[in-house]
Amino acid sequence: MAAETPRVFVTRRLQQEVLDRLAALYRVDLWDSDMPPDYDSLRERAALADGVLCLLTDRIDAALLEAAPSLRVVSNMAVGTDNIDLAAATAGGIPVGNTPGVLTETTADYAFALLTSAARRIVEADAYVRAGQWQTWGPSVLLGRDLYGATLGIVGFGAIGQAVARRAQGFSMRVLYTRRSNAPAPPDLNAEPAELDRLLRESDFVSLHVPLTAETRHIIGERELALMKETAILVNTARGGVVDQDALVAALRRGRPAMAALDVTAVEPIDARDELLSLPNAVVTPHIASASVATRLLMANMAADNLAAGLEGSRLPNCANPDVYG
Ligand code: DGY
Repeated sequence: MAAETPRVFVTRRLQQEVLDRLAALYRVDLWDSDMPPDYDSLRERAALADGVLCLLTDRIDAALLEAAPSLRVVSNMAVGTDNIDLAAATAGGIPVGNTPGVLTETTADYAFALLTSAARRIVEADAYVRAGQWQTWGPSVLLGRDLYGATLGIVGFGAIGQAVARRAQGFSMRVLYTRRSNAPAPPDLNAEPAELDRLLRESDFVSLHVPLTAETRHIIGERELALMKETAILVNTARGGVVDQDALVAALRRGRPAMAALDVTAVEPIDARDELLSLPNAVVTPHIASASVATRLLMANMAADNLAAGLEGSRLPNCANPDVYG
């Protein structure tokens, strides 16, 4: 391969077909592991690269970008880019790629799966059977909450929030939503805009779908949790930092809201001894909302497309910091 062949740092073992695709075009420096590189290794290896294909577990900060003189593109295999200092990348003229769209439906499926399993106590019911507690059919055994006809509050009405609203139609749910922009919801979604406080007061289920930014950090805190119904269920498939987790633990202890079903936590992975995991009214899964075979392959290929465009000097098909192009 010619000396000028771009060098790319890939921060995790990806699907082999995507790695093969990259290896045919570039000198690939692969972090050949299922665990992320530590920050120092990430920074050292990025410093030698023309392009970095990274994951949401990799912190790409200003210091790393400054230490990488040849870096021309950072491609994140995620739609969220809160692991990347976008302002520093823009200032350094480095486009940042992300993977919107391809994970929308898969993530919405999972948000609904969490919502359903919390409402109908599926995780608890499975543990009950395995523990040999199933003695008989009983009129009051493991009673849950109906989705049918309930009110669903969707915080953040972008593509994923709307995909969740679409699923809610099948359950005849009333949908309230908050949205940054004033753009009306597509009429077929039959959804009503609401201020956050009203949404929290009136919803039986609250599902979070905002990116993590300075504005959205801890938008669900002690005050907001106290506004929720005593019977309400909070679902988070967005980012752990959107919720004040200490406040949530205290609120769940008091029983308001009744339950939380979380695919994301303040620190990931959550410590197995974390107080949150001792609560019977919390369901926690390991950030797998986009984890279907097909979707993860689409995400990896999209990240490879963004990387390739950046290395060619073309505009990234999906760029998280379009200001970089002036
Ligand atoms: C993303 O792409 O930001 C998701 O959180 C990955 O599951």
